[in-house]
Amino acid sequence: MTENMPQETKQEKKKVIFSAIQPSGTITLGNYIGALRNWVKLQDDYNCIFAVADLHAITVRQDPKIFKQNILNAYALLLACGIDTEKSPFFIQSHVHTHAELAWILNCYTQFGELSRMTQFKDKSQKHADNVNAGLFTYPSLMAADILLYQADLVPVGADQKQHLELARNIADRFNGIYGKTFTIPDGYISKVGSRIMSLQDPTKKMSKSDENVNAWVAVLDNPDTIMKKFKRAVTDSEAVVRVGEGKDGINNLIGIMSSVTGKTADEITVEFEGKGYGDFKQAVGEAVVEELRPIQERFNDYIKNKDYLEEQYRKGAEFALRISQRTLDKAMKKIGYVLK
Ligand code: TRP
Repeated sequence: MTENMPQETKQEKKKVIFSAIQPSGTITLGNYIGALRNWVKLQDDYNCIFAVADLHAITVRQDPKIFKQNILNAYALLLACGIDTEKSPFFIQSHVHTHAELAWILNCYTQFGELSRMTQFKDKSQKHADNVNAGLFTYPSLMAADILLYQADLVPVGADQKQHLELARNIADRFNGIYGKTFTIPDGYISKVGSRIMSLQDPTKKMSKSDENVNAWVAVLDNPDTIMKKFKRAVTDSEAVVRVGEGKDGINNLIGIMSSVTGKTADEITVEFEGKGYGDFKQAVGEAVVEELRPIQERFNDYIKNKDYLEEQYRKGAEFALRISQRTLDKAMKKIGYVLK
């Protein structure tokens, strides 16, 4: 399958989608519903390429042992969520050297001013004031390299990555302007389904694993008891009616989650819980989430024990990724005037 893929790409003219996730240790229900689950669904209609963005991860200091485990966990968990390596090459970014190489090149076509305007850089340099390293600053050019190497047409990104994608487009456009068409200009892919999952404790904020309050988020690998506890503690309102409404951010969020995992509409959920209290509703949402995550957790536990299988998958992914990305890198280098060996 992997062998045939480039030809198929040409014949079927499916659009190319690239996306990546950082191996940050915890993948939340928000990541799953907001991003991963959609990636899984895209696999039939697009030529998807996915990666664990471990090069990006060292812009903040990592403990070596934990980092290594996080990379493997992220890889195994994404497989468990349904990334199918028969359909979608799936690799670990640091295994494919073209990423760092093109990132360097793109750095030379990216302006200091542009990088200075990235809101994530500004936020992160405030948060990690003791380690405002150059990698944190040039992070967007590495991300641009990730995307442009595969001539991606579409990139599913959340709001927090939109500015980086915009910059990737500008870099590509600039390079193409100087040397002629080299890179496909990528568009954002906005998913039609899957609402933005908010914090269970402050539902005006996005669910984030960096929230100090662990009850604010649910991890895909949380055990059922923990999940139930977190949902039981979720913030609601005083109306005691399960319906979508203004000033009901907590309930709106829980309805969104319920709807995402059961496929029921908000109206159906309102009807189902008519006359019932929030206690019952929270219990039901918790149970639905537990059931949704159970098979993923089971698969994860299998994969993570099977190091040989994981290795086989990520090696296959890296081999494919290198082959495709090397073409783009060569093309760009040739245009710049490098002597290719
Ligand atoms: N920067 C992204 C994040 O932190 C992860 C990422 C790296 C990415 N390279 C990418 C996302 C390329 C989309 C495309 O979420």
